[in-house]
Amino acid sequence: MAVVYVLANQKGGVGKTTSTYNLGVALADLGQRVLLVDLDPQGGLTFCAGYEPEDLERTVYHCLLRNVPARDVILHNEFGVHILPANIDLSIAEFQLINAPARERRITKIINEVRDDYDFVLIDSQPSLGLLTMNAMAAADRVIIPVSCEYLSVRGTIALLRLIGRVKGQLNSSLEVAGLLPTMFDSRTRHAREILQTLREEFPKLRLYPHVVTRSIRFAEAAAARVPIFETKFQVPGALAYRELARDLVKTFQEKD
Ligand SMILES: Nc1ncnc2c1ncn2[C@@H]1O[C@H](COP(=O)(O)OP(=O)(O)OP(=O)(O)O)[C@@H](O)[C@H]1O
Ligand SMILES: [Mg+2]
Repeated sequence: MAVVYVLANQKGGVGKTTSTYNLGVALADLGQRVLLVDLDPQGGLTFCAGYEPEDLERTVYHCLLRNVPARDVILHNEFGVHILPANIDLSIAEFQLINAPARERRITKIINEVRDDYDFVLIDSQPSLGLLTMNAMAAADRVIIPVSCEYLSVRGTIALLRLIGRVKGQLNSSLEVAGLLPTMFDSRTRHAREILQTLREEFPKLRLYPHVVTRSIRFAEAAAARVPIFETKFQVPGALAYRELARDLVKTFQEKD
């Protein structure tokens, strides 16, 4: 049965989607069965995986509000991952679910339908702490927090940890923070190096993944070309971080069994 990770940070543009996709492909390259779940109405993950979000007739919205089985919506791409896609329809789901029974557990139910088919489920969440993100956290075993190496990220992480604490208390007592994943790291700046140190000091109990994702324009280029970062012609050190993180997750998964 799959272990479920959510990549979450209410701060926008810190690399949640990029990390979900490349980590997913890296896990698939290690022979793992991977489902990616797009829980952001921007549909960025769906786009990265090679699909045009607005052209899709059925998305996770239809699972959430029309009871369409997840298996009828999941797509497979040429890089070995399966994806439950999203598009702008998802933005109205938050309003439509407001009065629904068990409204925070809708995604849990959808993932449970297919959980036995996979080793890893990775959920990409939107940059807000609304109902969709709560659904993602209710469904997850572990949270990976991508943090871009700049000061505002440190503050945002404090707010996110507070929310995770509330989710643990009210919705999902077994939720754990797997670790902080430093992204957009520019080794040439002292600021970025200081942020790594600050993260270590501010969150001594949390794991700071040792393989930082360096800043590189290749990530944006790969996303535009809809290929994983591993497919670009140039070697990018940040790509290695995703390979290492994938190995780390597989090891943790095997230790658990
Ligand atoms: N390591 C990196 N170096 C440079 N650019 C990056 C890196 N990782 C991601 N990017 C680029 O930064 C932008 C934001 O990344 P991404 O969409 O993954 O962030 P996000 O946290 O999912 O954003 P949002 O909060 O809007 O969902 C994208 O254009 C992406 O291609
Ligand atoms: Mg995103």
